[in-house]
Amino acid sequence: MRVLVIGNGGREHALAWRLAACARVQTVFVAPGNGGTALDAGALKNLPNLPMGRTEALADFAAAEKIALTVVGPEAPLAAGVVDLFRARGLPIFGPTKAAAQLESSKAFAKAFMQRHGIPTARHATFADAALAHAHVDQHGAPIVIKADGLAAGKGVVVAMTAAEAHAAIDDMLGANTLGVAYNAEGARVVIEEFMAGEEASFIVIADGRTVLPLATSQDHKRIGEGDTGPNTGGMGAYSPAPVVTPDVHARVMKEIIRPTLDGMAAEGMPFTGFLYAWLMIDAQGRARTVEFNCRLGDPEAQVILMRLKSDLFEVLLHAAQGTLEQVEKGGGLEWDRRTALGIVMASAGYPVRPRTGDAISGLPADEPDLKVFHAGSALQDGEGTAAGGARALVTSGGRVLCVTALGDNVREAQGRALAAVREIRFPGAQWRGDIGHRALKS
Ligand code: AMP
Ligand code: GLY
Repeated sequence: MRVLVIGNGGREHALAWRLAACARVQTVFVAPGNGGTALDAGALKNLPNLPMGRTEALADFAAAEKIALTVVGPEAPLAAGVVDLFRARGLPIFGPTKAAAQLESSKAFAKAFMQRHGIPTARHATFADAALAHAHVDQHGAPIVIKADGLAAGKGVVVAMTAAEAHAAIDDMLGANTLGVAYNAEGARVVIEEFMAGEEASFIVIADGRTVLPLATSQDHKRIGEGDTGPNTGGMGAYSPAPVVTPDVHARVMKEIIRPTLDGMAAEGMPFTGFLYAWLMIDAQGRARTVEFNCRLGDPEAQVILMRLKSDLFEVLLHAAQGTLEQVEKGGGLEWDRRTALGIVMASAGYPVRPRTGDAISGLPADEPDLKVFHAGSALQDGEGTAAGGARALVTSGGRVLCVTALGDNVREAQGRALAAVREIRFPGAQWRGDIGHRALKS
């Protein structure tokens, strides 16, 4: 069987790597892929000429190559309707339709949906008019959360600890838009939310529109700096399982958040097939509320989750795409490595504001059963005429460059193993956190 993975990040490297290990899978194409999927050239094949925006060309490729299943990594092609296009052409694909992907692509849709279905989340109000938004902040005070209603690659959220910060965020999002938010057709809008206190966790399930199978729990670290300080990023590291999701919290999340979401989407004529990622805020009493939904795997959560997955991912996703996930559930559900997986992201100089690219990467360890380096912003350059003198050179090509992922009997062991590898890897200006997993180490 041949499989196609759409995307070029660490999540897609992990998906492709896991799919390539599946019994019936011969080749995994990655469109367009990255330096890491190029290095894993045995079973993976990059398609550098098929960037993920070229959905028609991707469908042509899938048809011509008789691709048994296409798996979509990032949200942008989902929000652009790649699943609708493939389905209309009879091509097997795993992911939500454009309508279902609104759970992520429109914060306003997601909040209204949660309200309609009684799914716990922060109180909110949506504004297109800056004056009304400012008045709302004046009325409610800080802390308060300001969110851009569009796709912002995880950067369109300002947790304002003061009213001044909140006013500045509104002016930016409804004015200069320095965060570069891709707004929806309705134009620029902000969602203003009640601040929720608690600990965050990532709760991701595989859904076929009806049946859901929860993936292992995980937690990522969004801030650039150790001790969770500094600006937000797409995620500087993750680990799985997340102890904050106790069996009791898990059962409540399935009952109060996941099940009503799947049922609500089906009832509204947009059954959700794909990875559904509920980003949770869990308070001191173990009550979980939804910060937001994503319609895809998390990055770097995917790297640690897939490192622990023992079930055959291809068969599971094929069932999900065909609406027969119930068979996997009846067969006992998903099987996990009992150990902890922990991934440390190595980011380029200047990330998250202005990542520098083109720095040479060296010191990568060989793969081991309990250690894998997933690549994101890396590229394997043709060595002709370069400093590498004919050999192909690996260079940085984006903000988050690598996610060094290790398995260990506990968090400390997994962290130690990942850190040991991180310290051997070199590129100028590399940024990484030595404290990934610290919340689980405390308890
Ligand atoms: P990101 O979307 O990755 O930029 O992250 C947004 C940040 O906002 C996260 O660190 C969350 O903890 C935080 N956040 C989002 N919504 C709320 C909320 N309603 N209350 C408290 N924190 C929030
Ligand atoms: N790591 C958070 C995300 O993928 O959105």
